[in-house]
Amino acid sequence: MLKRRLFTPGPVPVPERVLLAMAQPVINHRAPDFLPVFQRCKTGLQRIFQTEQPVLLFAASGTGAMDAAVSNLLSPGDHALVIQGGKFGERWGEICDAYCVRTTKIDVEWGRAADPADVEAALDANPDIKAVYLQASETSTATRHPVKEIAEIVRRRDDCLIVVDAITAVGVYDIPMDDWGLDVVLSGSQKAFMLPPGLAFMGLSERAREFMKSSQAAHYYFSLDKELKGLETDQTSWTPAVSLLQGLDVALEMILDEVGLEETWARTEKLAHATRESMRAIGLGLLAPDDPSPACTAVLVPDGVDGPELRKYLRDKLGYTVADGQGKLKGKIIRLAHLGYFDRFDTIAAIAAVEMALAAQGYVHKMGEAARTATELLAE
Ligand SMILES: Cc1ncc(COP(=O)(O)O)c(C=O)c1O
Repeated sequence: MLKRRLFTPGPVPVPERVLLAMAQPVINHRAPDFLPVFQRCKTGLQRIFQTEQPVLLFAASGTGAMDAAVSNLLSPGDHALVIQGGKFGERWGEICDAYCVRTTKIDVEWGRAADPADVEAALDANPDIKAVYLQASETSTATRHPVKEIAEIVRRRDDCLIVVDAITAVGVYDIPMDDWGLDVVLSGSQKAFMLPPGLAFMGLSERAREFMKSSQAAHYYFSLDKELKGLETDQTSWTPAVSLLQGLDVALEMILDEVGLEETWARTEKLAHATRESMRAIGLGLLAPDDPSPACTAVLVPDGVDGPELRKYLRDKLGYTVADGQGKLKGKIIRLAHLGYFDRFDTIAAIAAVEMALAAQGYVHKMGEAARTATELLAE
C-alpha cells in the first residue's frame, strides 16, 4: 500500500472538517444563508491579517491578487521598485512590465534576504518611485525578507506604497499589517489557510485606497474599487467561490479560535527549526541558512544525488510529494513544507522518508540520524 502525502509549501493538506464544510450543498451567494458565512470570513481575515483595514477576497490564485496590486494602484509609465530574490520576486517585475510600469530592480542573491539599505539607496536615487513590491517570504528560495525594516524606510515617504506578497507569511509568522504600516498585503488559500487553491486575499490600507483613485491602468475583473464598495454590504462584485468560503469559515475558526494565531506561528517555527537541524545533522546544506522563512525549508541536493530522481523516489516509492526548486534552482533543491496543516508527526515521518530516499540514491549517512534529531527537538 502506498499512502499519498502532500508535503509541498502550497497546496497543503486540507483538514477533514474543512473538506466536509466544502462538501455541503452549494448555496446562492446572494441568499440570506450565505451572509453569515461571508461576514465571519470577512472579520476572520482581518484578524489573521492583523488589520482593521478591509481585506478583499477574490476567486483567483495568489497571482490574481498580485496582478490587481499593480493594475489598480499604478498607471502606465509610473515607476516601481521591485525586490527580486527568487521566482516570485521576478513575477512582480513581469506584472509591472505587463502594465507598462517602469521598474528599478534590486537583484538579491537567491537564498539571501534583501538589505534595507539597498531599498533606501534606490528610493533616494529615484524619488519618483511610487511603490515598492516585495515578498515577505520568498517561497521559491525559502527565504524571509525584512519587511518591518523596509516598511520603516518606505513609510518616511508620503508618496510611496509598500506592497507585500505575504502569500506564505500571513498565518505563518507575525506580520502585523497595521503595526508595520503595510499598504497592501496579499495571501492565498492553499497556504497557511489550509484550503484548496482558488482564493486570494488582499488587505488595503487607507493610503493604498487613496492611491487607487489616480490609477489609470486597465483592469476589469480585478477592480478593487468595485470590490471595496461591495464589501461594505458584504457582497463581492462577481460570483464568489462559495464552497471555498464555506471551507474558509471553518479553517479560520480552527486557526484563530481553536489553535490560536500565536500558537500556529509557534508550531510552524518549531517544525521549520527541527527540519533545518535534522537536515544539517546528516550533512546536508540549506539554501537560506541565514534568513530562512518558516514556511518551508529548501534543502540542497547533495553532490552525487540526482534531484529529480530523489523527488521521484519520494513520490513513487514512499508516497511523499515534495516541491522541486523553481527557475534556476530546478533539480538543485527540494522544498519541505511547514505552513498549514502539518504537525510534528507529519514532519518527523517526512524527514524519515527523505533519509530513506537519500540512501536509495546512494547518499551515505547514518540512517535515522535526521529523524532522531527532529524527534528530540519536537518531543516537548
Ligand atoms: C510567495 C508567493 N507568491 C506568489 C505565489 C503565486 O501564487 P499562486 O500560485 O497561488 O498564483 C506563490 C505560490 O506559491 C508564492 O508562494
